[in-house]
Amino acid sequence: MSKVLVTGGLGYIGSHTVVELTNAGFTPVVLDDLSCSDLEVKGRIEKILGSPIIFEEVDMCDKLALADVFDRHPEITGVIHFAAFLLVNESVDLPLKYYRNNLFSTINLLELMSEKKVKSLVFSSSCTVYGIPDKLPVDENASIKPAESPYGNTKKMGEDIIRDAALAHDLKCISLRYFNPIGAHDSGIIGEFQDGEPHHLVPYITETAIGKRSELKVFGGDYDTRDGTCVRDYIHVVDIARAHVNAIEQAMKTDALNYDVINLGSGNGSTVLEMIHAFQNATGIDIPHSIVARREGDVPAVYADITKAKKVLGWEPQLSLETMLASAWQFEQSLTS
Ligand code: WQD
Repeated sequence: MSKVLVTGGLGYIGSHTVVELTNAGFTPVVLDDLSCSDLEVKGRIEKILGSPIIFEEVDMCDKLALADVFDRHPEITGVIHFAAFLLVNESVDLPLKYYRNNLFSTINLLELMSEKKVKSLVFSSSCTVYGIPDKLPVDENASIKPAESPYGNTKKMGEDIIRDAALAHDLKCISLRYFNPIGAHDSGIIGEFQDGEPHHLVPYITETAIGKRSELKVFGGDYDTRDGTCVRDYIHVVDIARAHVNAIEQAMKTDALNYDVINLGSGNGSTVLEMIHAFQNATGIDIPHSIVARREGDVPAVYADITKAKKVLGWEPQLSLETMLASAWQFEQSLTS
């Protein structure tokens, strides 16, 4: 059986990808150090799948421990690498924590892939590398801007490290640049768990809807957009997960490719106010909100050109904005039931 190592596999996108990999006939080896996730997610994934998953609690910065995982699972033929610290604001306060963890883990992984002859890698990257794009929609040839945060810089540097290692060691690697993943598995038992204050728009919306918060603060209403609020490209996390299955299959079967970069988005932009209205349409719940000052570092508008994902991966998003928001709301409700 073909095993795929999924680093950060108990995280938000990782856990959804573990489900889709299993559905596609792969055997995931789920690796996580539990620094940004909870062991409870393992049981939730197993409940969805109706079968146990292979789990390895390992800090990827410990190269010997990571090497043992490869030795315990010689059937690993590919890796999907999600594991990373991912909080933009925290990365500004603690840059060295982010550089050490996010880059050392990637370097250890690449060295071991080369040593163990595991050639195929899919890397979790981000549209954050585009900064404020020169034109919209953004395609993969868009210029890469200086990172807005150490977190964003670890994604940009991670791509460069992977590209150079792939060329030098004949690895087959694809970096996937996510736009804004939202939503949850339709079981309602896995989703974007929050550890205290949310960090993204949709959890703020669902926590306002359920009454954990009195109102949603809209960060800025004076941008040069349709309604003055920021535009983002929201994409269902299950569509993102399915793209990872296509990408690892592509990396495993190709001979020509050493390195490629692919955008993952819906191809559509939505403003913050449009998201509030879409949530109300999807759930019937009004979201009290007020427009406040802009948030430092926000990009006014960004959304993806996904032509390449369709062409190279044979993938395109299937799930609508309303489905994304309804699933996020279902997950929020499951947390308090
Ligand atoms: C979306 C919009 C906010 C909260 C994140 C990650 C980034 C990348 C993409 C992974 C913005 C507005 C938010 C609130 C608001 N992901 N907002 N009120 O900023 O696009 O970036 O996803 O790599 O790394 O940081 O997502 O959900 O924080 O914000 O008005 O209470 O919602 O200003 O315009 P963002 P977000």
